[in-house]
Amino acid sequence: MSAKQVLSGLRIGVIGVGNMGQALVHGLVEKSVYPQNISVFDLDKKKITEIKKEGRIKGAASTRQCASLSDVVILAVKPQGLQPVIEEIASSIEPGTLVISIAAGVTLKKIETYFKKQVSLVRVMPNMPALVGSGMSAYSPGRHVSEKHKKIAEAILSSFGEVVLVPEKLLDLVTAVSGSGPAYYFLLTEKLIEAAYEMGMKVDVAKRLAYQTAFGSGKVLAGTSEDPEDLIAKVASKGGTTEAALKVFQKQGLGKIVHDAVKAAYKRSKELSR
Ligand SMILES: NC(=O)c1ccc[n+]([C@@H]2O[C@H](COP(=O)([O-])OP(=O)(O)OC[C@H]3O[C@@H](n4cnc5c(N)ncnc54)[C@H](OP(=O)(O)O)[C@@H]3O)[C@@H](O)[C@H]2O)c1
Repeated sequence: MSAKQVLSGLRIGVIGVGNMGQALVHGLVEKSVYPQNISVFDLDKKKITEIKKEGRIKGAASTRQCASLSDVVILAVKPQGLQPVIEEIASSIEPGTLVISIAAGVTLKKIETYFKKQVSLVRVMPNMPALVGSGMSAYSPGRHVSEKHKKIAEAILSSFGEVVLVPEKLLDLVTAVSGSGPAYYFLLTEKLIEAAYEMGMKVDVAKRLAYQTAFGSGKVLAGTSEDPEDLIAKVASKGGTTEAALKVFQKQGLGKIVHDAVKAAYKRSKELSR
C-alpha cells in the first residue's frame, strides 16, 4: 500500500511549525496528504500564515484545538517545550489517536508520564536534510502502538526521506550517527573550502567545487549498495593523487577522530535524555 493510501482520509495535526514541522508539512502536502486534512498550530502566528501558503491547511487557534481536529498529532516543538504542550492537549487525545514526538532526547517513558494516561506513542529521531525531502528518520514505537499505527508513522516519515524502525535503546546512537551526522559532512566541506582557499583558490570557486562534490558523492551513495571501500577504489588509483590524500587521513588518525566524535555525541545524547 502506498503512503498516500495509508494516510487517505486521516487528519494530521502538527504542533510547532519551525524548521522540522514545516519540512514535515511540506513533505506531506507534496507526497501524500490533502492540505485540507492538515491542521497546524504554532505560538508564532507568522509561521502559521507562512505554512498556509502550501494550500488549504487549517490554522488551529490552540494546541488543544489542533489535537482535537486530528487522528494523528505530531509534536514538533523543542524538547523543553514538550511537557507544557502535552499537558494542554492530553484531555483532547482520544483512544486510538496516534501521537508522534520528534523531540530529541525525550524518552517514550517520559512522554507517557507527561500524558498521565495510556497513549499510542511513537518517538522519532529525524535529521536536518528533511528540509529538502532527503531526511533520515529512525522511529521507536511505544507500548500501545498497533501495526496500523506503525504503518501510519512510516507513511508520514517517508514523505520527507527514508525511515527505519529501531528499538528505543538505539536512538542515542542514531542521534550520534544520522541526527548530528549532517554537521559532520558540513564540517568536512568547510575544511575542504578552507584548504583550497589557503592554497590560492577564490572562496566562491572553492565553495562551488566542494558543495557539488558533496552533492555528487551523496547522490552516488544514495543510489548504490556498494561499500564505501569499493567506491573509494573507483576514485583512488595506485600511486595517484587520491591515494596520497587518503594516506594523510589514515596516518593522522581520521578513523579514530570520527570514532571518538560519534562516541562523544552518543554520550551527550544519553546525558540529555536522562
Ligand atoms: N532541527 C534539527 O535538525 C532536528 C533534528 C532532529 C530532531 N529535531 C527535533 O525537532 C523538534 C523541532 O525542532 P526545530 O529545529 O524545528 O525547532 P524550531 O524551529 O524552534 O521549531 C519549533 C516551533 O515550535 C514553536 N513552539 C514552541 N512552543 C510551542 C507551543 N507551546 N505551541 C506551539 N508551538 C510552539 C516555536 O515557536 P517559537 O519560535 O515562537 O518558540 C517554533 O516555531 C525539536 O524537538 C528537536 O529536538 C530537530
